[in-house]
Amino acid sequence: MLESQDLKRLDELFSSMEEANGCFLGYPFAKRFDYEPLWRFMSLTGNNLGDPFEPGTYRVNSHAFECEVIDFFAGLFRAPSCEVWGYITNGGTEGNIYGLYLARELYPNAVAYFSQDTHYSVSKGVRLLGLEHSVVRSQSNGEISYDDLAQTATRARNRPAVVVANIGTTMKEGKDDTRKIRAVLHDVGISAIYVHSDAALCGPYAPLLDPKPAFDFADGADSITLSGHKFLGAPMPCGVVLSHKLHVQRVMRTIDYIGSSDTTLSGSRNAYTPIILWYAIRSLGIKGIKRIFHQCEDLAAYTTNELNARGVSAWRNPNALTVVFPPVEESIKAKWQIATQNVSHLVVTPGTTKHQIDAFIEATTSRGR
Ligand SMILES: Cc1ncc(COP(=O)(O)O)c(C=O)c1O
Repeated sequence: MLESQDLKRLDELFSSMEEANGCFLGYPFAKRFDYEPLWRFMSLTGNNLGDPFEPGTYRVNSHAFECEVIDFFAGLFRAPSCEVWGYITNGGTEGNIYGLYLARELYPNAVAYFSQDTHYSVSKGVRLLGLEHSVVRSQSNGEISYDDLAQTATRARNRPAVVVANIGTTMKEGKDDTRKIRAVLHDVGISAIYVHSDAALCGPYAPLLDPKPAFDFADGADSITLSGHKFLGAPMPCGVVLSHKLHVQRVMRTIDYIGSSDTTLSGSRNAYTPIILWYAIRSLGIKGIKRIFHQCEDLAAYTTNELNARGVSAWRNPNALTVVFPPVEESIKAKWQIATQNVSHLVVTPGTTKHQIDAFIEATTSRGR
């Protein structure tokens, strides 16, 4: 049992996290989800070690639910039936590193290409894996410059190309087009190509957009990742990575100690996040995901219009939940946890309320911006 001062510290920590949870807008994390029916699982020593699709010696796992989540996204991402494999990761970062790992095992001599708007996990991944890389310029909306990709790749046209395509860049939610990327590389004479789609935020709703962005398996992706805590929502970070089985077979090792294949990056893996993601997709379904996306998009449109009406030059990409505007001042950045580089942004994720948006707009525009 904890001493009373420790109980007090827990109460204080909860209050401060709760306060911060009520006013963050700058990070693409869904809020106000309800997973109470899953609390009982927290008393078990859950661990999803090993390959989710294989039986193993340790059985306190949620592999069956993990496989259902993978199958759901395989369908959504137009995977050729039975040819795609995946697992639940710790988040988009792990998915990106995993995709790059599979790519490097296929093409050890490749050059990796990604745009300057790409999330920092990708440059960490290429450093970890010792992959040579070139950073490609972006267009002003955050999308990769296909002209610059062509010019950059021409310089290494005799080597395989690994491209990380952004399906929603971190700051502007710009979307790269995997079909165009493949066509550009073919045109410069490269045929050994691996494309990894980083759909960290947009993964759950990108397949439902009209027009649908080109990013999935039918559009030429070799692997795709998304973050579970971003749009679907989870109390802890999590994600999904999917890839063609052939790529995964190259890294697979049989491990007697666990009685299963080692196909994932981590050994011990979270058993709760697959249940959370399963709960989210079962309770929402495709219809629910669509409905929530449209609610968020309406609020993102409202935010952009209101900021513009008050003289702030805010904008967003078509079908994006990310509203981009000039950098905000420090106090606003701190209170609303507004991610800021050369621009600031806010992301209207599920659980964001009009009340929060109005309070943010009032605070931002009442300071003479
Ligand atoms: C485009 C993109 N990729 C990857 C990531 C990393 O995802 P995670 O935070 O789940 O590791 C992010 C996070 O913001 C992102 O915006």
